[in-house]
Amino acid sequence: MKHKYRNAFTGALLSITTAASLAAAQPVITMTSFGTLPDGRSAQLYTLANSQGAKVSITNYGGIVTHIIVPDREGRMADVALGYDMVEKYVAGSPYFGALIGRYGNRIAGGKFTLDGKTYTLPTNDVPGGVPCSLHGGKTGFDKVLWDATPLLASDAAGLKLRHLSKDGEEGYPGNLDVTVTYWFNNKNELRIEYSATTDKATPVNLTNHSYFNLAGEGAGTILDHILTLNASNYTPVDKGLIPTGKVTPVSGTPFDFTTPHAIGERVNTVDEQLKFGGGYDHNFVLDRTGKGLVKAAEVYEPVSGRVMEILTEEPAIQFYCGNFLDGTNVGKSNCPYTYRTGIALETQHSPDSPNQPAFPSTILRPGQRYETATLYRFSAR
Ligand code: GLA
Repeated sequence: MKHKYRNAFTGALLSITTAASLAAAQPVITMTSFGTLPDGRSAQLYTLANSQGAKVSITNYGGIVTHIIVPDREGRMADVALGYDMVEKYVAGSPYFGALIGRYGNRIAGGKFTLDGKTYTLPTNDVPGGVPCSLHGGKTGFDKVLWDATPLLASDAAGLKLRHLSKDGEEGYPGNLDVTVTYWFNNKNELRIEYSATTDKATPVNLTNHSYFNLAGEGAGTILDHILTLNASNYTPVDKGLIPTGKVTPVSGTPFDFTTPHAIGERVNTVDEQLKFGGGYDHNFVLDRTGKGLVKAAEVYEPVSGRVMEILTEEPAIQFYCGNFLDGTNVGKSNCPYTYRTGIALETQHSPDSPNQPAFPSTILRPGQRYETATLYRFSAR
Protein backbone atom coordinates (compact mmCIF):
# COMPACT_ATOMS: atom_id res chain seq x y z
CA MET A 1 0.00 0.00 0.00
CA LYS A 2 1.31 3.46 -0.90
CA HIS A 3 0.66 6.37 1.43
CA LYS A 4 1.72 9.97 1.14
CA TYR A 5 2.41 12.35 3.96
CA ARG A 6 4.53 15.37 4.73
CA ASN A 7 7.60 15.41 6.90
CA ALA A 8 6.70 17.46 9.97
CA PHE A 9 10.15 19.11 10.08
CA THR A 10 10.83 19.92 6.43
CA GLY A 11 7.38 19.87 4.85
CA ALA A 12 8.76 17.47 2.22
CA LEU A 13 6.28 15.06 0.69
CA LEU A 14 7.20 11.48 1.53
CA SER A 15 5.93 8.19 0.20
CA ILE A 16 5.61 5.22 2.47
CA THR A 17 5.08 1.86 0.87
CA THR A 18 4.00 -0.44 3.67
CA ALA A 19 1.33 -0.14 6.30
CA ALA A 20 3.95 -1.17 8.86
CA SER A 21 6.18 1.79 8.11
CA LEU A 22 3.17 4.14 8.13
CA ALA A 23 2.32 2.90 11.59
CA ALA A 24 5.84 3.89 12.57
CA ALA A 25 5.07 7.57 11.78
CA GLN A 26 4.80 9.09 15.23
CA PRO A 27 3.38 12.44 16.26
CA VAL A 28 6.16 14.95 16.86
CA ILE A 29 6.46 18.26 18.64
CA THR A 30 8.99 20.93 17.72
CA MET A 31 9.82 24.23 19.38
CA THR A 32 11.00 27.44 17.71
CA SER A 33 11.41 31.03 18.82
CA PHE A 34 8.30 33.16 18.30
CA GLY A 35 9.74 36.56 19.15
CA THR A 36 10.17 38.88 22.12
CA LEU A 37 7.66 40.53 24.43
CA PRO A 38 7.96 44.25 25.32
CA ASP A 39 9.48 43.27 28.72
CA GLY A 40 12.25 41.26 27.03
CA ARG A 41 10.91 37.78 27.72
CA SER A 42 10.86 35.48 24.73
CA ALA A 43 7.88 33.53 23.47
CA GLN A 44 8.09 30.08 21.93
CA LEU A 45 6.09 28.38 19.23
CA TYR A 46 5.30 24.68 19.63
CA THR A 47 4.21 22.73 16.57
CA LEU A 48 2.27 19.52 17.12
CA ALA A 49 2.42 17.38 13.98
CA ASN A 50 0.52 14.13 13.65
CA SER A 51 1.16 11.03 11.56
CA GLN A 52 -1.03 12.45 8.76
CA GLY A 53 1.23 15.49 8.35
CA ALA A 54 -1.46 17.78 9.80
CA LYS A 55 -0.17 20.36 12.28
CA VAL A 56 -1.31 22.68 15.01
CA SER A 57 0.99 25.40 16.33
CA ILE A 58 0.57 27.03 19.71
CA THR A 59 2.55 29.76 21.42
CA ASN A 60 2.98 30.02 25.17
CA TYR A 61 2.03 33.72 24.82
CA GLY A 62 -1.70 33.70 25.54
CA GLY A 63 -1.80 29.96 24.83
CA ILE A 64 -2.64 31.12 21.31
CA VAL A 65 -3.33 28.57 18.57
CA THR A 66 -1.52 30.25 15.68
CA HIS A 67 -1.87 27.65 12.89
CA ILE A 68 -4.17 24.70 12.16
CA ILE A 69 -3.00 22.98 8.98
CA VAL A 70 -5.42 20.29 7.83
CA PRO A 71 -6.28 18.56 4.52
CA ASP A 72 -9.16 19.25 2.16
CA ARG A 73 -11.03 16.46 0.35
CA GLU A 74 -8.09 16.04 -2.09
CA GLY A 75 -5.57 15.89 0.73
CA ARG A 76 -4.34 19.46 0.09
CA MET A 77 -3.22 21.17 3.25
CA ALA A 78 -4.29 24.68 4.24
CA ASP A 79 -4.06 26.75 7.39
CA VAL A 80 -7.63 27.25 8.61
CA ALA A 81 -6.82 29.45 11.63
CA LEU A 82 -6.59 33.25 11.48
CA GLY A 83 -3.48 34.61 13.18
CA TYR A 84 0.02 35.97 12.93
CA ASP A 85 3.52 34.56 12.46
CA MET A 86 5.27 36.38 15.33
CA VAL A 87 4.40 37.29 18.89
CA GLU A 88 5.06 41.00 18.32
CA LYS A 89 2.00 41.18 16.07
CA TYR A 90 -0.22 39.58 18.72
CA VAL A 91 1.06 42.12 21.25
CA ALA A 92 0.48 44.99 18.80
CA GLY A 93 -3.20 44.11 18.38
CA SER A 94 -5.35 41.04 18.02
CA PRO A 95 -9.09 40.51 18.39
CA TYR A 96 -8.24 37.42 20.48
CA PHE A 97 -7.09 35.34 17.45
CA GLY A 98 -6.67 31.73 18.69
CA ALA A 99 -6.24 32.82 22.31
CA LEU A 100 -7.04 31.21 25.62
CA ILE A 101 -9.63 33.38 27.29
CA GLY A 102 -10.01 33.88 31.02
CA ARG A 103 -10.61 34.34 33.83
CA TYR A 104 -14.08 34.97 32.41
CA GLY A 105 -14.73 34.38 28.71
CA ASN A 106 -17.33 36.75 27.23
CA ARG A 107 -18.98 39.75 28.95
CA ILE A 108 -19.78 40.75 32.51
CA ALA A 109 -22.26 43.63 32.65
CA GLY A 110 -20.78 46.92 33.85
CA GLY A 111 -17.68 45.02 35.03
CA LYS A 112 -19.46 44.25 38.31
CA PHE A 113 -20.73 41.20 40.13
CA THR A 114 -21.67 40.29 43.68
CA LEU A 115 -20.46 37.06 45.23
CA ASP A 116 -21.21 35.89 48.78
CA GLY A 117 -22.43 39.42 49.61
CA LYS A 118 -19.36 41.24 48.34
CA THR A 119 -19.37 43.37 45.18
CA TYR A 120 -16.35 43.12 42.89
CA THR A 121 -15.41 45.73 40.28
CA LEU A 122 -13.53 44.67 37.17
CA PRO A 123 -11.85 47.07 34.75
CA THR A 124 -14.12 47.58 31.74
CA ASN A 125 -12.47 47.10 28.36
CA ASP A 126 -15.35 47.05 25.88
CA VAL A 127 -18.28 49.39 25.12
CA PRO A 128 -20.64 47.73 22.64
CA GLY A 129 -23.63 49.98 21.96
CA GLY A 130 -21.96 52.58 24.21
CA VAL A 131 -22.39 50.38 27.30
CA PRO A 132 -19.18 49.48 29.19
CA CYS A 133 -18.54 45.89 30.22
CA SER A 134 -15.69 43.57 31.08
CA LEU A 135 -14.81 41.39 28.07
CA HIS A 136 -12.72 38.21 27.98
CA GLY A 137 -11.00 38.58 31.35
CA GLY A 138 -10.27 42.30 31.21
CA LYS A 139 -7.35 44.42 30.04
CA THR A 140 -4.72 41.76 30.64
CA GLY A 141 -6.65 38.54 30.32
CA PHE A 142 -5.18 35.06 29.97
CA ASP A 143 -4.73 35.80 26.25
CA LYS A 144 -1.93 38.24 27.15
CA VAL A 145 0.12 36.31 29.70
CA LEU A 146 3.14 34.08 29.13
CA TRP A 147 2.18 30.57 30.20
CA ASP A 148 4.62 27.93 31.49
CA ALA A 149 4.74 25.28 28.78
CA THR A 150 5.54 21.57 28.84
CA PRO A 151 5.57 19.60 25.59
CA LEU A 152 3.94 16.16 25.78
CA LEU A 153 3.99 13.09 23.56
CA ALA A 154 1.65 10.10 23.54
CA SER A 155 1.63 7.20 21.08
CA ASP A 156 -1.12 8.78 18.96
CA ALA A 157 -0.92 12.48 19.83
CA ALA A 158 1.38 15.39 20.55
CA GLY A 159 0.45 17.78 23.32
CA LEU A 160 1.29 20.98 25.12
CA LYS A 161 0.52 21.60 28.76
CA LEU A 162 0.23 25.25 29.77
CA ARG A 163 0.04 26.60 33.29
CA HIS A 164 -0.71 30.06 34.66
CA LEU A 165 -1.14 31.27 38.19
CA SER A 166 -3.64 34.14 38.15
CA LYS A 167 -3.05 36.10 41.35
CA ASP A 168 -5.68 37.14 43.87
CA GLY A 169 -7.03 40.50 42.69
CA GLU A 170 -5.65 40.21 39.14
CA GLU A 171 -8.06 42.06 36.82
CA GLY A 172 -10.32 42.51 39.84
CA TYR A 173 -11.08 38.82 40.39
CA PRO A 174 -10.88 37.22 43.85
CA GLY A 175 -8.60 34.30 44.68
CA ASN A 176 -5.36 32.80 43.43
CA LEU A 177 -6.46 30.73 40.46
CA ASP A 178 -4.11 27.95 39.37
CA VAL A 179 -4.98 27.19 35.75
CA THR A 180 -3.80 24.36 33.50
CA VAL A 181 -4.77 24.04 29.87
CA THR A 182 -3.60 21.05 27.85
CA TYR A 183 -3.80 20.88 24.08
CA TRP A 184 -3.65 17.48 22.34
CA PHE A 185 -3.52 16.99 18.58
CA ASN A 186 -3.95 13.35 17.60
CA ASN A 187 -3.54 11.23 14.48
CA LYS A 188 -7.28 11.55 13.73
CA ASN A 189 -6.93 15.33 13.21
CA GLU A 190 -8.66 16.01 16.51
CA LEU A 191 -7.56 18.98 18.60
CA ARG A 192 -8.63 18.49 22.20
CA ILE A 193 -8.40 21.24 24.82
CA GLU A 194 -8.57 20.25 28.48
CA TYR A 195 -9.06 23.05 31.00
CA SER A 196 -8.53 22.70 34.73
CA ALA A 197 -8.36 25.17 37.63
CA THR A 198 -8.40 25.43 41.41
CA THR A 199 -8.79 28.49 43.61
CA ASP A 200 -8.27 29.60 47.21
CA LYS A 201 -11.29 32.00 47.20
CA ALA A 202 -14.65 31.74 45.46
CA THR A 203 -14.39 33.24 41.96
CA PRO A 204 -16.14 33.14 38.61
CA VAL A 205 -14.30 31.04 36.02
CA ASN A 206 -15.31 30.62 32.37
CA LEU A 207 -12.45 29.49 30.13
CA THR A 208 -12.55 29.15 26.38
CA ASN A 209 -10.48 29.37 23.23
CA HIS A 210 -11.09 32.17 20.75
CA SER A 211 -9.87 30.63 17.48
CA TYR A 212 -11.23 32.17 14.30
CA PHE A 213 -11.66 29.64 11.51
CA ASN A 214 -11.88 29.92 7.77
CA LEU A 215 -12.10 26.38 6.41
CA ALA A 216 -11.20 27.55 2.90
CA GLY A 217 -7.90 28.75 4.40
CA GLU A 218 -7.12 31.90 6.37
CA GLY A 219 -7.19 34.93 4.11
CA ALA A 220 -9.34 33.13 1.52
CA GLY A 221 -12.38 35.41 1.67
CA THR A 222 -15.52 35.59 3.76
CA ILE A 223 -17.06 32.77 5.76
CA LEU A 224 -20.54 33.59 4.48
CA ASP A 225 -20.72 30.37 2.41
CA HIS A 226 -19.62 28.18 5.30
CA ILE A 227 -22.51 25.96 6.33
CA LEU A 228 -23.16 25.86 10.05
CA THR A 229 -25.17 23.51 12.21
CA LEU A 230 -25.60 24.20 15.93
CA ASN A 231 -27.00 21.70 18.38
CA ALA A 232 -28.98 24.46 20.09
CA SER A 233 -32.75 24.93 20.18
CA ASN A 234 -32.35 28.06 22.33
CA TYR A 235 -30.16 31.12 22.59
CA THR A 236 -29.73 34.02 24.98
CA PRO A 237 -30.93 37.27 23.37
CA VAL A 238 -28.95 40.37 24.32
CA ASP A 239 -29.50 44.07 24.94
CA LYS A 240 -27.66 46.75 22.97
CA GLY A 241 -24.62 46.26 25.23
CA LEU A 242 -24.50 42.56 24.15
CA ILE A 243 -25.45 41.47 27.67
CA PRO A 244 -28.05 38.67 27.88
CA THR A 245 -31.50 39.90 28.87
CA GLY A 246 -31.80 36.75 31.02
CA LYS A 247 -34.28 35.09 28.67
CA VAL A 248 -33.54 31.75 27.06
CA THR A 249 -35.45 31.92 23.79
CA PRO A 250 -36.26 29.25 21.19
CA VAL A 251 -34.43 29.79 17.89
CA SER A 252 -37.26 28.21 15.92
CA GLY A 253 -38.61 30.49 13.19
CA THR A 254 -35.74 32.99 13.57
CA PRO A 255 -32.43 33.61 11.72
CA PHE A 256 -30.82 31.98 14.78
CA ASP A 257 -32.14 28.54 13.92
CA PHE A 258 -29.08 26.50 12.94
CA THR A 259 -30.52 23.23 14.21
CA THR A 260 -30.46 22.28 10.52
CA PRO A 261 -27.53 23.31 8.28
CA HIS A 262 -27.59 26.88 6.94
CA ALA A 263 -25.02 29.05 5.19
CA ILE A 264 -23.89 31.75 7.60
CA GLY A 265 -24.61 34.44 4.99
CA GLU A 266 -28.12 33.21 4.25
CA ARG A 267 -29.90 35.19 6.96
CA VAL A 268 -27.15 37.29 8.58
CA ASN A 269 -28.44 40.52 7.03
CA THR A 270 -32.09 39.93 7.94
CA VAL A 271 -33.72 42.97 9.53
CA ASP A 272 -33.85 41.77 13.11
CA GLU A 273 -33.17 43.63 16.36
CA GLN A 274 -30.84 40.90 17.70
CA LEU A 275 -28.78 40.85 14.50
CA LYS A 276 -28.66 44.64 14.65
CA PHE A 277 -27.29 44.61 18.22
CA GLY A 278 -24.62 42.06 17.29
CA GLY A 279 -23.80 43.62 13.92
CA GLY A 280 -24.54 40.08 12.71
CA TYR A 281 -24.22 36.85 14.67
CA ASP A 282 -22.52 37.44 18.02
CA HIS A 283 -24.74 35.42 20.30
CA ASN A 284 -24.67 32.65 22.84
CA PHE A 285 -26.45 29.42 22.00
CA VAL A 286 -27.59 27.07 24.76
CA LEU A 287 -26.71 23.52 23.76
CA ASP A 288 -29.27 20.73 23.74
CA ARG A 289 -27.63 18.42 26.20
CA THR A 290 -28.32 16.29 29.22
CA GLY A 291 -25.74 15.17 31.73
CA LYS A 292 -22.00 15.61 31.52
CA GLY A 293 -19.44 14.58 28.91
CA LEU A 294 -18.70 15.68 25.38
CA VAL A 295 -21.70 16.45 23.17
CA LYS A 296 -21.69 17.74 19.65
CA ALA A 297 -22.11 21.50 19.73
CA ALA A 298 -21.42 22.59 16.17
CA GLU A 299 -20.47 21.47 12.70
CA VAL A 300 -19.06 23.74 10.03
CA TYR A 301 -18.75 22.64 6.38
CA GLU A 302 -16.96 24.56 3.64
CA PRO A 303 -18.36 23.31 0.32
CA VAL A 304 -15.44 24.19 -2.01
CA SER A 305 -12.63 22.52 -0.03
CA GLY A 306 -14.96 19.97 1.56
CA ARG A 307 -13.38 20.66 4.94
CA VAL A 308 -15.51 19.92 7.97
CA MET A 309 -14.98 20.98 11.55
CA GLU A 310 -17.02 19.38 14.31
CA ILE A 311 -16.93 20.81 17.82
CA LEU A 312 -17.74 18.65 20.81
CA THR A 313 -17.78 20.09 24.30
CA GLU A 314 -18.57 19.50 27.94
CA GLU A 315 -19.74 23.13 28.23
CA PRO A 316 -23.42 24.13 28.31
CA ALA A 317 -23.24 26.84 25.62
CA ILE A 318 -21.36 28.19 22.63
CA GLN A 319 -20.80 31.77 21.44
CA PHE A 320 -21.14 32.07 17.68
CA TYR A 321 -19.43 35.21 16.36
CA CYS A 322 -19.05 35.69 12.61
CA GLY A 323 -16.24 38.24 12.54
CA ASN A 324 -18.43 41.35 12.39
CA PHE A 325 -15.70 43.51 13.93
CA LEU A 326 -12.98 42.40 11.49
CA ASP A 327 -12.23 45.40 9.27
CA GLY A 328 -8.94 44.65 7.55
CA THR A 329 -6.77 46.32 10.20
CA ASN A 330 -5.28 42.98 11.23
CA VAL A 331 -2.98 41.65 8.51
CA GLY A 332 -2.49 37.92 8.89
CA LYS A 333 0.21 35.32 8.29
CA SER A 334 -0.09 35.30 4.52
CA ASN A 335 -0.05 39.12 4.39
CA CYS A 336 -3.77 39.16 3.83
CA PRO A 337 -5.86 41.75 5.69
CA TYR A 338 -8.59 40.01 7.64
CA THR A 339 -11.62 41.92 6.40
CA TYR A 340 -15.30 41.87 7.46
CA ARG A 341 -16.61 38.39 8.22
CA THR A 342 -13.56 36.45 7.03
CA GLY A 343 -13.39 34.29 10.16
CA ILE A 344 -15.85 32.51 12.41
CA ALA A 345 -15.37 32.04 16.15
CA LEU A 346 -17.23 29.31 18.01
CA GLU A 347 -16.36 29.66 21.68
CA THR A 348 -17.55 26.87 23.98
CA GLN A 349 -18.39 28.31 27.38
CA HIS A 350 -21.00 29.19 29.98
CA SER A 351 -23.34 31.99 28.95
CA PRO A 352 -22.22 35.63 29.19
CA ASP A 353 -22.77 37.54 32.43
CA SER A 354 -23.58 34.34 34.36
CA PRO A 355 -22.26 35.85 37.65
CA ASN A 356 -25.17 38.34 37.40
CA GLN A 357 -27.74 35.89 36.01
CA PRO A 358 -29.05 33.61 38.76
CA ALA A 359 -31.07 31.51 36.30
CA PHE A 360 -27.99 30.57 34.22
CA PRO A 361 -25.76 27.61 35.22
CA SER A 362 -23.26 28.78 37.83
CA THR A 363 -19.70 29.76 36.90
CA ILE A 364 -18.53 30.04 40.52
CA LEU A 365 -15.55 27.92 41.55
CA ARG A 366 -14.96 27.48 45.27
CA PRO A 367 -11.91 26.37 47.28
CA GLY A 368 -11.76 22.57 47.36
CA GLN A 369 -13.50 22.26 43.99
CA ARG A 370 -11.79 21.63 40.67
CA TYR A 371 -12.91 23.35 37.47
CA GLU A 372 -12.60 20.78 34.69
CA THR A 373 -13.90 20.95 31.17
CA ALA A 374 -12.91 19.84 27.68
CA THR A 375 -13.63 20.75 24.08
CA LEU A 376 -12.67 18.84 20.96
CA TYR A 377 -12.37 20.15 17.39
CA ARG A 378 -12.44 17.36 14.81
CA PHE A 379 -11.23 18.19 11.30
CA SER A 380 -12.16 16.06 8.29
CA ALA A 381 -13.29 16.51 4.68
CA ARG A 382 -16.07 15.13 2.50
C1 GLA B 1 -16.26 37.73 21.20
C2 GLA B 1 -17.37 38.68 21.39
C3 GLA B 1 -17.43 39.63 20.24
C4 GLA B 1 -16.11 40.31 20.03
C5 GLA B 1 -15.04 39.29 19.86
C6 GLA B 1 -13.68 39.90 19.75
O1 GLA B 1 -16.54 36.78 20.25
O2 GLA B 1 -18.60 38.03 21.54
O3 GLA B 1 -18.42 40.59 20.51
O4 GLA B 1 -15.80 41.10 21.14
O5 GLA B 1 -15.04 38.40 20.94
O6 GLA B 1 -13.63 40.89 18.79
